Amino acid sequence: MDLFEYQARDLFAKHDVPVLAGEVIDTPEAAREATERLGGRAVVKAQVKTGGRGKAGGVKLAADPADAVEKARAILGMDIKGHTVHRVMLAQTADIVDEYYVSFLLDRTNRTFLAMASVEGGVEIEEVAVSNPEALAKVPVDAVEGVTEAKAREIVETAKFPAEIADQVVDVLQRLWTVFVEEDALLVEVNPLVKTGDGRIVALDGKVSLDANAEFRQPDHAALEDKAAANPLEAAAKERGLNYVKLDGGSVGIIGNGAGLVMSTLDVVAYAGEAHGGVKPANFLDIGGGASAEVMANGLEIILGDPEVTSVFVNVFGGITACDAVANGIVQALELLKSKGESVSKPLVVRLDGNNAELGRKILTDAAHPLVEQVDTMDGAAARAAELAAK
Ligand SMILES: Nc1ncnc2c1ncn2[C@@H]1O[C@H](COP(=O)(O)OP(=O)(O)OP(=O)(O)O)[C@@H](O)[C@H]1O
Ligand SMILES: [Mg+2]
Repeated sequence: MDLFEYQARDLFAKHDVPVLAGEVIDTPEAAREATERLGGRAVVKAQVKTGGRGKAGGVKLAADPADAVEKARAILGMDIKGHTVHRVMLAQTADIVDEYYVSFLLDRTNRTFLAMASVEGGVEIEEVAVSNPEALAKVPVDAVEGVTEAKAREIVETAKFPAEIADQVVDVLQRLWTVFVEEDALLVEVNPLVKTGDGRIVALDGKVSLDANAEFRQPDHAALEDKAAANPLEAAAKERGLNYVKLDGGSVGIIGNGAGLVMSTLDVVAYAGEAHGGVKPANFLDIGGGASAEVMANGLEIILGDPEVTSVFVNVFGGITACDAVANGIVQALELLKSKGESVSKPLVVRLDGNNAELGRKILTDAAHPLVEQVDTMDGAAARAAELAAK
């Protein structure tokens, strides 16, 4: 889960990383009093989960409270790389002497953690990495040892931070590592980390991505979720413990068992859809191993709840959960939805193969539900689902 800058800033403050005071507002008028509280001047910063806000005009200096209202008015509602700005943070202004870059991240390729640092911060670090790779220090961090004082010093020396701020940066790096570990983050990035006129080191921007797999031991993190931006069907699926993902621009709903099968189903449907004017998958849902009637009903309810879905492809390869159980699941799911008064009006193409496939097919044939159609092969079923979706 990616965080907004102001949320990252809050986590930094919680672990004593030096940050500047800030307030989050969502109306231009609120900028006036907030700026007064911040000392009469402020930087107005768009809160969107994408980079390059400054370049897009989403970071502006306001000279006084009235100016802050105008700047907030200009930035609120702005579109930055497809993200609408709903909130801005007003931050205390820093007297910047120098801008640096530091980050910690999970280095999957090398199966370790990685510290990156550069004295050429502020601008897009990706550019520095390409045009001047030596300017971006990369120092592996052992997962068990973490960022000790010695490790922090190694990072500071490799990146060639000036001697007069070395101790402070060592301290900030250790605190940022604490954020990384204690908050179960996958990324903690500060760009820019600045030196101010009075020689202090302060984090002016923060990008934090939290590991969703650690949710069970991070009860506070649920509050950081951006509920407004979450797809309501994805939220409903999550509540029921289902893996559902909404896709853009498609019309075939996809239910399968197992991530591998579901992924290849997406490909097969997209391929078959080319013959029908570019029909594509609208979403997908992995019912996993246990396809009980209830799981199936929940899954169907979510898939059918997507208004963009015009046909559904249920693709199941029976394994430990045999096809007869899945077929019973489908039949009972349709009954369950009917009894709940939810009219099922979209066609379902079902392909059952694997363990007890014949029995499963017979169950569906006997049930003779007018909307359920069976096709024996995955390609054939994908083609039929695409054809029905195009109608
Ligand atoms: N509180 C502040 N006081 C003074 N200048 C600031 C302050 N916050 C940001 N700036 C200036 O604005 C620049 C851009 O700010 P910031 O890094 O937050 O946005 P960004 O880098 O454009 O966005 P992103 O990190 O999403 O790409 C900084 O490099 C810094 O020069
Ligand atoms: Mg930045």
